[in-house]
Amino acid sequence: MADKTKTTTYGKGKVFLLILFFLFFVVLVSVYTTSNRLTYIYSVHATIKSNLQDVFFGILLGNTSFSVTPITPFSVTPITPFSVTPITPFSVTPNGTLTIITAPTTVAGNHRVVSKIVLKDASNITTARPDVCETCFSHNFKYVIDNDVICKLYDDSGEIYLIIFIFTTHQRQQERNAIRQTWLNYTNKNKANIRYSFLLGEVPDENIRKLVEEENKIHNDIIKEDFVDTYQNLTYKTMMAFKYAITKCSRAKFVLKTDDDMWVNIPGLLKVLKREETTLQTAVGGACHPEAGPIRNPASKWYASFQSYPHNSYPGFCSGTGYVTSMNVARKVFDISKNVPFFHLEDVYVAICIRKLGYRLYPIHGFNAYRPTFDPCLYKGDSLITSHEVPAKMLISYWNTACNKQ
Ligand SMILES: *[C@@H]1O[C@H](CO)[C@@H](O)[C@H](O)[C@H]1NC(C)=O
Ligand SMILES: *[C@@H]1O[C@H](CO)[C@@H](O)[C@H](O)[C@H]1NC(C)=O
Ligand SMILES: *[C@@H]1O[C@H](CO)[C@@H](O)[C@H](O)[C@H]1NC(C)=O
Ligand SMILES: *[C@@H]1O[C@H](CO)[C@@H](O)[C@H](O)[C@H]1NC(C)=O
Ligand SMILES: *[C@@H]1O[C@H](CO)[C@@H](O)[C@H](O)[C@H]1NC(C)=O
Repeated sequence: MADKTKTTTYGKGKVFLLILFFLFFVVLVSVYTTSNRLTYIYSVHATIKSNLQDVFFGILLGNTSFSVTPITPFSVTPITPFSVTPITPFSVTPNGTLTIITAPTTVAGNHRVVSKIVLKDASNITTARPDVCETCFSHNFKYVIDNDVICKLYDDSGEIYLIIFIFTTHQRQQERNAIRQTWLNYTNKNKANIRYSFLLGEVPDENIRKLVEEENKIHNDIIKEDFVDTYQNLTYKTMMAFKYAITKCSRAKFVLKTDDDMWVNIPGLLKVLKREETTLQTAVGGACHPEAGPIRNPASKWYASFQSYPHNSYPGFCSGTGYVTSMNVARKVFDISKNVPFFHLEDVYVAICIRKLGYRLYPIHGFNAYRPTFDPCLYKGDSLITSHEVPAKMLISYWNTACNKQ
């Protein structure tokens, strides 16, 4: 019985449907990024799903005219013979696969159809970001502004409950001032058991540096290192925060990372920390997404090239708008980061470290990576911890609006 079935596999009958052959072969393709006119030679694996003979004819009869309208800034010209006529633009899937749906192609008397060709961008697969490395990511930047006073102990109890790191950029002084005037008042100018700091990298503009130095003379609440302060370098800022925490603020029990466009409900947060103290010894909490994958569209703010992340999925992440953890986790993440290759999306990078540590991402109700509609009783109650994209003036106005129900 078994033998009989076998012999009919290629026969007329039943399973004629899918004789799926995945034939891998390598086509050399030039990819031009039209934006900067750099030319890369990419080696591309093409998978042709079709009848075996189609593939064969397709290759043998090859016609190199193969033009596509990419939706990404790539154009592709195969340099080996290849006969396909794409009818749809490229689409780049999350795993870096280029898919081209071709028009049915008639091949030399045999009416065979090549309907789909998948080009997999395997460019420099060996130079794509490795998952681990041996001390390849040491955080050795120099402090430009280093305020040891931020975690100074003012009494013998020696306790700091929480250190808050607020990511900012030089020119956003107005935003920093709004935060100082509002939700940071619980820190009592860094003399309470909640401490805070604004984090900066370096910028070329001398005038703006001076302004920040002046600002720091007044508030003594800025930490700055000498890496170039760009969005692509935020992971440096995160490691700077964790390093500062474990070396200069190690008496703090908890660490919050947030941004300068955030509303943070400190009383609400303190309740969360009390409640989740144990969990946070092995977790990062916040607006966490347990599942997420790289965005391959170069126009996206969160774009990750196949090279920078050659996998289909992230280990999730807790939104960088606000995540909280314990000193234990901050220390472990910083330590393991030495062997975790740089990745530019800082919240994903932290999640990668968390996964390596066997710790977890812990969604906490009330951490919002968006801005819930304002209601003073919501914003000052227990069910909202963070709110995102709150401009300086709005922050002040929210702060000054009392909840009358309380
Ligand atoms: C592949 O990696 C090598 C070494 O990093 C580099 O010199 C080369 O330009 C890369 N090629 C492509 C196509 O990116
Ligand atoms: C390939 O196809 C194009 C148009 O379909 C044609 O102009 C060209 O002559 C063909 N080239 C070869 C080598 O067959
Ligand atoms: C890549 O992603 C596409 C669609 O997202 C999927 O169909 C395909 O199987 C994936 N390929 C690999 C090698 O993971
Ligand atoms: C925070 O501000 C409120 C009113 O603006 C004030 O009553 C309170 O004492 C301040 N808290 C601290 C710790 O400074
Ligand atoms: C990130 O910082 C490093 C160190 O200062 C710098 O060399 C690099 O150019 C920066 N990268 C970007 C994309 O700004």
